[in-house]
Amino acid sequence: MKQHIAIDGPAGAGKSTVARGVAKKLGYLYLDTGALYRALTLHFLRKGLDPGIPNLENVLSEVNISLESSGDGTKVVLNGEDVTVLIRSPEVDRMVSRVAESKGVRDFLRGIQRTLALSKPSVVEGRDIGTVILPEADLKIFLTAKPEVRAYRRWLELRARGNTVDYKRVLKNILERDMIDSSRQHAPLKKADDAVLIDTSFLTIEEVIHKIYTLAVGEGNGRCGD
Ligand code: DC
Repeated sequence: MKQHIAIDGPAGAGKSTVARGVAKKLGYLYLDTGALYRALTLHFLRKGLDPGIPNLENVLSEVNISLESSGDGTKVVLNGEDVTVLIRSPEVDRMVSRVAESKGVRDFLRGIQRTLALSKPSVVEGRDIGTVILPEADLKIFLTAKPEVRAYRRWLELRARGNTVDYKRVLKNILERDMIDSSRQHAPLKKADDAVLIDTSFLTIEEVIHKIYTLAVGEGNGRCGD
């Protein structure tokens, strides 16, 4: 049985739903590392700060972010305040990649992620989990899907939350984020050499969960229906 599962991939590939589903099926801790970047972004937005400021350490030293399991999801707490819903706003969407580009931010969040991930058997979802945060993970998955499919999923998600944002804008944001996340200097989004690539464009959530679960318990070859 694999104890630490890393799931990386671009925005909208289905990582959160899949990682949560796999964690539930295995009885493992689910860790959404993007939520940490999002919470920090909300802090920057509220303070009107740019992630490129020189005295970043001072800003980070006043930030306390924690993730708490709540039902099927994760409650995100920023300096004592529940920001679970606020970190999913279009404003945070627009700025988060820029915050995640900062080496200072990445170094600050790396320790938090490792401590949480290694505290229990876990399914950890992000962009650099298999490459930087948990290179020792015993199962690495790289989830992807066509940009149009990812944008459509994100658009549905935003609409369900009452955000009447235009599909074209969501696609533009996804493409911009892909570009920034994959080309940034520090810990760019890329598949680890030993990761299993899964394209979710034409798979259901259940099929993807089943595939990863099968790989985690070491049964069959991960093909749906095994
Ligand atoms: O998964 P998400 O969309 O909530 O992630 C938000 C942003 O955080 C995304 O644009 C890239 C960044 N991120 C990252 O750089 N490294 C991670 N491990 C997780 C997220």
